[in-house]
Amino acid sequence: MNQPKVISVAKLNMNSEIKKIEKQLEQSIKSNDKILESASYHLFSSGGKRVRPAFVILSSQFGKERNEKVYRVAVALELIHMATLVHDDVIDKSDKRRGSLTIAKKWDQNTAILTGNFLLARGLEHISNVEDNRVHNVISNAIVEVCMGELYQFQDQFNGNQTITNYLRRINRKTALLIQLSTEVGAIASGADAKTIHNLKMIGHYIGMSFQIVDDLLDFTSTEKKLGKPVGSDLMNGHLTLPVLLEMKKNEEFKSLIQQLNANSSQETFDYCINHVKNSNVIQQAQAISDKYLDKALYLIDQLENEDSKPLFKKLIKKVGKRNV
Ligand code: IPE
Ligand code: IPE
Ligand code: MG
Ligand code: MG
Repeated sequence: MNQPKVISVAKLNMNSEIKKIEKQLEQSIKSNDKILESASYHLFSSGGKRVRPAFVILSSQFGKERNEKVYRVAVALELIHMATLVHDDVIDKSDKRRGSLTIAKKWDQNTAILTGNFLLARGLEHISNVEDNRVHNVISNAIVEVCMGELYQFQDQFNGNQTITNYLRRINRKTALLIQLSTEVGAIASGADAKTIHNLKMIGHYIGMSFQIVDDLLDFTSTEKKLGKPVGSDLMNGHLTLPVLLEMKKNEEFKSLIQQLNANSSQETFDYCINHVKNSNVIQQAQAISDKYLDKALYLIDQLENEDSKPLFKKLIKKVGKRNV
């Protein structure tokens, strides 16, 4: 077996790490087919925070070495993430993503579905030479779970009887798992021991839960310019997220209004509900729930070994928790 190439970087410089990932991403989406290539490039070049690769790299600091495998899984996870975004926009019939037109809008729905498959396949191809079955196992399981998360979200559209537990289960599947995967696989690829792998997996889980709660909050509190799509899109799509579910618990009138909502409800009704949530203290309540998840992650980071790598990890987590996009 070939020894993995060790890339030695004295001090972790996240910006240059991400640049390296971006180069590999750009290479991975090259294709003989110009439509697949330009649709993928359209999404690639529209931005994105590259959060998942960042967590792979950060987690690898707690293993033995930041080797070639680490970069392979980092790139693969971003490609898989890009695939889920493309498919999510088809399901949500979204016109905009990251401030640009979605692939379905700029090309058409079939192109979007196929581009999603293309990105997923390129992600898997990118890790095909990683000779560690654990990596392939956890990644394929996570892809199945993400499908289930998106399916349940679709089945729960405009379902005014769902519980907060339903919501938490759904966001675990559709979002937290892929972030959990970043920290877990980053640890595995860098040769971390079993206990560290487990801790990093849990850290990723807590970050991921907080990440989606913040995403759902921003859908109410941010601006169309920052979000890159209209404010309140989730509710208009029938996705009842944490702030809405919290408000339904304390306000019977609001609850029955939400229970009557459907795809044909008027824009005025949606606007009324969106503004009601925006002006309610459920925003702070949901933020506090997100912060609790982050605190759990921060506590577990303290339990890890390698003292030098903790501050940057913590800094990034706090930034992710307070982000406005
Ligand atoms: C958006 O993910 C979808 C969610 C899982 C919340 P990101 O917020 O990581 O999207 P980009 O890649 O930065 O655009
Ligand atoms: C996206 O969740 C989760 C996946 C892509 C699997 P959202 O539906 O909240 O993501 P945005 O808000 O469209 O980015
Ligand atoms: Mg969506
Ligand atoms: Mg969202």
